[in-house]
Amino acid sequence: MKITVFGCGYVGLTTAVGLAEMGNEVLGIDVDVEKISLLEQGVVHFYEPGLQEMLLRQITEGRLTFSNDPKLGIESSNVIFSAVGTPPLKDHYADLSAVLSVAEEFKKYAKGEKIFINKSTVPIGTSDKIMEIIAQKKSAGDVFDVVSNPEFLREGTALQDFFEPDRIVVGLYENSPHLQKIMKKLYRPMIEKGVPILFTDIRSAEVIKYASNAYLATRLSFINELANFCENTGADIQNVRQGVGLDKRIGTHFFQPGIGFGGSCLPKDLNALIEMAKQSGFELKVMEAAQKVNLQQPYKLIQALNKVFPSLKGKTIAIWGASFKPGTDDLRDAPSLPIMNELLQAGAKLQVYDPVSLQKLQKIFGKKLVYSNDYYSSLQESSALLLLTEWDEFRNPDFAKMKSLMAEHYIFDGRNIFDREEVEKQGFFYYGIGSLSPERKLKSKRSRVKLGL
Ligand code: UGA
Repeated sequence: MKITVFGCGYVGLTTAVGLAEMGNEVLGIDVDVEKISLLEQGVVHFYEPGLQEMLLRQITEGRLTFSNDPKLGIESSNVIFSAVGTPPLKDHYADLSAVLSVAEEFKKYAKGEKIFINKSTVPIGTSDKIMEIIAQKKSAGDVFDVVSNPEFLREGTALQDFFEPDRIVVGLYENSPHLQKIMKKLYRPMIEKGVPILFTDIRSAEVIKYASNAYLATRLSFINELANFCENTGADIQNVRQGVGLDKRIGTHFFQPGIGFGGSCLPKDLNALIEMAKQSGFELKVMEAAQKVNLQQPYKLIQALNKVFPSLKGKTIAIWGASFKPGTDDLRDAPSLPIMNELLQAGAKLQVYDPVSLQKLQKIFGKKLVYSNDYYSSLQESSALLLLTEWDEFRNPDFAKMKSLMAEHYIFDGRNIFDREEVEKQGFFYYGIGSLSPERKLKSKRSRVKLGL
């Protein structure tokens, strides 16, 4: 099939590369000239495991090309995906200008039979707006359709999620066997492997996308709030998580407590859904609570640090990990950002290491941080280590080496990746989200923990 994908960001590029890998002839369009020029040379402008290699293969095999020309994009295929960005506006509402401008281009250049498939996360009712725009131009012989086909891939595992999604959701204006056939043809390799395809009305498809992310966000705020409660009561969240998660209805997946959820999707989509509801006179109380908990969660680690060091002025703090999660260099809404800002304001010196996001971090913080080449060098003369992203390479460090490098031996584990017993045996003070050390538990019986945690 000949396919055009508008937007070459995380979702658009993964979709374009994935569709090419499935044997289609794909043209990727983006307004960003520099981005397209890099892509034409086979260079991906962000970090996503495996994407660069697959992109190069598809370019070499001639199934994937790129252009800045929207006219070419619309004219060269009958199946047009729109996967452009919908960043949040000041009022949390999604900025639809890029999506609507693809609709305008479609209106301008489309002739004959064409389908506009929207993959961007858009507020409920956006398909109607797209339809209104493209229908203005329809002349005799033109058949234009709008389909909502939300994307559920995660950064860091984007390709795996593209090829093995849990489900394919397709929103249609009417139960059209013709459109169903085309959508099934597009996704045949996945459907043949047993991936369910769900056809719904168009508004429900739009809601499904927001509802999925809002549920995931709420689940995380639930476990984070529970972790804070465990800390207060002397329980250990990891035991509680296991015990609760063994109930098959709950499970332990996507239930890891930490310093809060970040990224370009969960916080943005949760905020947007709350805002959309408000505008229609409805209050999403559970989701508002999830949002509130998440805004406070990064500061848990600083509160713990302040119990040990009431003043951080002049203290050297090592930071491991900055991206919002492992497998990506994305810093959008990363919990590391408010943490680092707060520590800088308190006068701390920050020595930061992240395997892939240091360049992006430098664009935000400039000379305010010390950027380390590896995780051990970030520990030089530091009083404490804050672990903010659970990259695999941090999981088994040489604690004796760490001890020799650090001036004082405090570890604040924002992702609970270390084994408390092992770390404490090595002579470190250890703080993990939602648990107390055995001695502190004992002390807490006598005098409520000395550190007050
Ligand atoms: C999220 C959704 O998971 C995808 O299904 C969706 O397609 C995507 O948004 C989107 O709308 O485009 P992503 O933003 O890549 O994907 O990140 P997640 O894997 O959902 O992680 C979000 C945040 O939750 C991260 O900061 C992560 O550290 C945190 N998290 C995740 C936890 O704190 N605990 C967990 O157990 C899991």
